[in-house]
Amino acid sequence: MNQPFASHDLVHARPNLALEPLIHRYYAWLNLVSPVPAAMNFAKLHVPLLRSFLDAPALHRRSARDPKLRGGMFVDLEDDQLDRVSDLATRLADGPMPELSAAMDELTVNLEKLADGFDLTPRYGEIPPALRGYVELVYDLNDHARIRLAERMLYRSRHFDETAHSVDLSLATGDERPFAMTTPRFPGNGHVQATMPLRDPRIDLLFSTMSTARPFGELREAFDVSDADLATFSGLFSAEPGGSPDRNLDGPGLRVRYFGHACVVVQSGPVTVMTDPFLSDALGDGDRYAYADLPDVIDYVLITHGHQDHLELATLLKLRHRIGTVVVPKTAAGALQDPSLRLCLEALGFPNVVDVEPGETIELPDGQIVVCPFVGEHCDLDIAAKVTYSVRTGGKNLYFGADNRCVDPALFGHIHDMIGDVDMAFLGMECDGAPLSWMYGPLFSRRIDQKMSRSRKLNGSDAVEAMGIVRRLRARQAYVYAMGREPWLVFVMATNYTDESYQLKQMAEFFQRCADVGVPARELYGRADLA
Ligand SMILES: [Fe+2]
Ligand SMILES: [Fe+2]
Repeated sequence: MNQPFASHDLVHARPNLALEPLIHRYYAWLNLVSPVPAAMNFAKLHVPLLRSFLDAPALHRRSARDPKLRGGMFVDLEDDQLDRVSDLATRLADGPMPELSAAMDELTVNLEKLADGFDLTPRYGEIPPALRGYVELVYDLNDHARIRLAERMLYRSRHFDETAHSVDLSLATGDERPFAMTTPRFPGNGHVQATMPLRDPRIDLLFSTMSTARPFGELREAFDVSDADLATFSGLFSAEPGGSPDRNLDGPGLRVRYFGHACVVVQSGPVTVMTDPFLSDALGDGDRYAYADLPDVIDYVLITHGHQDHLELATLLKLRHRIGTVVVPKTAAGALQDPSLRLCLEALGFPNVVDVEPGETIELPDGQIVVCPFVGEHCDLDIAAKVTYSVRTGGKNLYFGADNRCVDPALFGHIHDMIGDVDMAFLGMECDGAPLSWMYGPLFSRRIDQKMSRSRKLNGSDAVEAMGIVRRLRARQAYVYAMGREPWLVFVMATNYTDESYQLKQMAEFFQRCADVGVPARELYGRADLA
């Protein structure tokens, strides 16, 4: 082990410095941040899972590591963590979340009975105490009642508990990580953990050293590093800067780089637009772009939707200090299943977040971002917070379709009317996604019918739908992306493709259909230079 840096040594964060943002030691994502979805996920998924693990740790480990069961509801920890698991389960069960979660369930179940089409005013007295003052009961025009949550108020309440936030820092040497959606992260060898709100500016200080060196002593003090952690913490830094020399594009011209999954970086002269940031922490061996390849300033980050592979909080927090504006889709406000991405990011310390809806535009020095609709891929739940984007810059029109579906070609006719012919269409074809219960199960108050759940999958476009998009947008070139195939995102995606996978067969069929009409098309994987 090298000698730790001295206090006055000027140091840079290493380019493979990994940050895991944790909430109650779980990998933070939208539905663990927004107070009511978080309470339901902890109370109805994580506490029972931790208890099940305590009953049968070996079975959980074996199942979690079985490739056929990847992404299943298992905890992947060693027996030396049993005491910590037990403490965590007790703390979560004794905290306020089970009451809030049960209140939401109770109100949802009773809603049909309470809301009989008549005046709802007398019903407020029957709202469970944990939700009092945080809900409005409303009808649609068919007299179906729904609960509107005062989400912003809930973020200001004890239900948004920043004392449960922490960060885990380590050096990423490979892509192997336990499935983060079900296994908590406890302190371990080679990792330094610090308890702090995720909005804490010390995270910005740390990652700004990637380009601007700071004295090691200042960083050690900021993160309150103990003597025991000193060597590990020191190992996160280097005397050399980590950024690639060509990361900035100062002159004119257009550069389009694929960073994996749905993450594309468009540099047009000095302006940078980045979609759905999700970076590999590990450096790889030339098979990927990573943090060091990003320009020092990212003017716009465009988020398409709140799924954990598109709103990836670890990457966003690492970039927070260099992002101008984060653009997110607007929620319909107050529905449990449709938490606000804007409130989430504002609560996590992002200073400039704008929420947009289809039809809105953002002007660029030499072009425009047009916000476009996104239908489907959310199990037919009433979720408004999803959009796609056209980015017109550097003389090109790029369409970022995320997991959009062509359920009705007329929709893409309207999109074409707004954005015109597309030069490069980026389309997701994860067309055999997880069932409804996998992502949204904890939010339901009733038992989910498994047949119904399987019919309402988190599906992107199949070959026919993707072709419908290409035709309607008159795309000159098509790229399939967001397939979850890069090894560095398996820890949240849990994809498990084989040659026989339906998605890959659909992708091949799509490429054939594109070839038939003379449109070049291919899958993006790992890294790619597209312009
Ligand atoms: Fe998605
Ligand atoms: Fe996706």
